[in-house]
Amino acid sequence: MIEINKIYNESCLETLSRIPDNSIDLVITSPPYNMNLRIRNGKYCSRQIVKEFSTKYENFDDNIPIEEYYKFHFKVLKELLRTSNIIFYNIQIVTGSKRAIFKIIGELSDYLKDIIIWDKGYAQPAMAQNVLNRRTELILIFDAKDAISRQFKKANFKRGTLDDLWLIKRGKKITSSHSAVFPEELVKNIIENFSDEGDLIYDPFMGTGTTAYVAKLLNRNYLGSELTSRYYEVINKRLSELKCQISFY
Ligand SMILES: C[S@@+](CC[C@H](N)C(=O)[O-])C[C@H]1O[C@@H](n2cnc3c(N)ncnc32)[C@H](O)[C@@H]1O
Repeated sequence: MIEINKIYNESCLETLSRIPDNSIDLVITSPPYNMNLRIRNGKYCSRQIVKEFSTKYENFDDNIPIEEYYKFHFKVLKELLRTSNIIFYNIQIVTGSKRAIFKIIGELSDYLKDIIIWDKGYAQPAMAQNVLNRRTELILIFDAKDAISRQFKKANFKRGTLDDLWLIKRGKKITSSHSAVFPEELVKNIIENFSDEGDLIYDPFMGTGTTAYVAKLLNRNYLGSELTSRYYEVINKRLSELKCQISFY
């Protein structure tokens, strides 16, 4: 059983196993990027964590072996394709995600509808010599039923008005223990352009709750999974403050 307008404090694979086929209108998500997987002497190496260059999370190291990272995301995406009409999967190409992303793009090419490039406006200097600064992230758009076409079934923008390059500054930190937060504007752009009021929006890696927060503001229903209890509490606090604001106005 799944209740909507609720966040589940568990792995998204558990939540997904209870979600019926074709019951989600839109998925917006950003999984951990496996930032702390490094390369030493031409081989992947998970041991050394360089705090100043890594995504900061409360209770996990974000450095699983690349094949495990690939298998996990493949499983999640297959479940999302079973349950959801359209999926916006935001991911950054870093050492720890690169091979897995390229493999997913190949393996799931039949479901890959389009790609939006998110330009964050500036890049932090690369952490090693001879490496490109990473200023952009990808938003992979998957469609279970009609990925052969670049046309969206549900689109609220007029022909010629929406580009595939979005210049949006990084998100503001909601808590000091979580540094990888969506900008509200990014979520708003996706929700307004690709869903209608009353639709159900799912984020399997809810983090600090930006997807649910913006969905609620825009009169959509939400559903989320978040593994880390500390962030689960942050999300519920953020959503309850929003409920007060809405009833106040
Ligand atoms: C990049 S963050 C998401 C940030 C979010 N977009 C926001 O605006 O705050 C990824 C989140 O996924 C959570 N996570 C990692 N593995 C998970 C899993 N198997 N199921 C659900 N959540 C998971 C992490 O705790 C982390 O908060």
